[in-house]
Amino acid sequence: MEIQKQLKSHGAWIGKWTFILAATGSAVGLGNIWGFPYKAGTNGGGAFVLIYLGCILIIGLPIMISEIIIGRRAGNSPINAMKKIAIESNRSSIWQLVGWSGIFAGILILSFYSVIAGICLNYIFIAFTSNGLISSPDQFSSVISSPINLIAWHTIFIVLTALIVSAGVKDGIGRMVKILMPMLGFLMIFMVVYSMINGNFSQAMSFLFAPDFSNVTSDTLLQAMGQAFFSLSLGMGSIMAYGAYMPKNQNVVNSSFTVASLDTLIAILAGLAIFPIIFAFNLEPNSGPGLVFVSMLSAFNQMQFGQLIGPLFFILLSVAALSSSISLLEPGVAYLSEEGVLSRKSSAIIISIFIWILGLGSAFSFNIWSDFNLIGNKNFLDSMDFLANQILLPLGGMLIAIFVGWYMDKSLIKSEVGVTNSLLYRMWRFFVKFVAPLCVGYIFYRQFF
Ligand code: TRP
Repeated sequence: MEIQKQLKSHGAWIGKWTFILAATGSAVGLGNIWGFPYKAGTNGGGAFVLIYLGCILIIGLPIMISEIIIGRRAGNSPINAMKKIAIESNRSSIWQLVGWSGIFAGILILSFYSVIAGICLNYIFIAFTSNGLISSPDQFSSVISSPINLIAWHTIFIVLTALIVSAGVKDGIGRMVKILMPMLGFLMIFMVVYSMINGNFSQAMSFLFAPDFSNVTSDTLLQAMGQAFFSLSLGMGSIMAYGAYMPKNQNVVNSSFTVASLDTLIAILAGLAIFPIIFAFNLEPNSGPGLVFVSMLSAFNQMQFGQLIGPLFFILLSVAALSSSISLLEPGVAYLSEEGVLSRKSSAIIISIFIWILGLGSAFSFNIWSDFNLIGNKNFLDSMDFLANQILLPLGGMLIAIFVGWYMDKSLIKSEVGVTNSLLYRMWRFFVKFVAPLCVGYIFYRQFF
């Protein structure tokens, strides 16, 4: 009864595909197209890619299944979901802290995510107003050198995110992902084919897929693991929150496989679209966050109809970013509105204001604060990225795995996954109980102790 009531207050997805599209919309975003290629580039390529894939499979996937189980069983926002399931399992309600840490991580992530997505929006604007995007090779530097400019687009992006989340899950989120996600997929395939023909494809293949483990450090492991959590939207409650809206008759495990595969596919396609061009133009693969913004421009500059395809690419990238950013805001907003203190709309506005302010630091880190380091030798944006992706997400994910593996009542799990005697179930169980927590623990241990 209680569950029914809560579900009603947020609305539920209609049909099986809405969950898959929304979760894929959450997973596929800047992390795949902006983050994955540049992180693979700065970490030497193949070995990073391989470790990343390993993390997706043995850590990410089991945790994704766990998040959906908790979310759907509870039908609430992550904080209340953790609390409710812990109580139903006769455990301490302190487990709700996992939900709180997730909301905190979401705020940190969205603050810089929005600045980067703002750059995409700015590129679209330039494409339609000046002489086109492609005219200047220094486009990226000129975009990031002005704080006002970055802040303006950051503002627009946050407002868009807040508007969709205020409209609610069903009307706001469900509708737009249906058309735009498939479009993004097609455009990525087109870009890969273009790069295959016009770029240095063989060098890109060996860069991405011929691993050289000699330079792998504990930092590489941590970064690859952080990227896996980030890309799959795990460890902070996005997927848990979306799981709460998943129809009861939908298969959790199959859905997780689908989402994780699509996400990984898009990241690999992004790498295969970007690196052949990087090598063909003798650009540096390890140039950092500007990689996609610089290399893609070189490609659009050269290609026929580049004036058209360029803006289209950034439009789709912005949409992918938007379908991710809403899932970063949703857990916090769902919590506040569920508690009945604030309406969905006011919750969205208040949290967004916090995020906007924090985002200023990331906008400045490209210009007036470029010499200011917050954590170690990391500027403001990199520090937010580090704190969220490499600490909070893996920590949250590890706790979720431990909770589901060791503390959650088995009968509750059973009611969500159905059969519990299949090989697949036993494998999953083994992974959440032992493999995922130990791997995260090991990587933390190597890096920090
Ligand atoms: N996965 C998204 C991307 O790759 C970003 C994202 C959405 C996210 N929700 C999240 C990252 C939750 C971490 C946690 O762009």
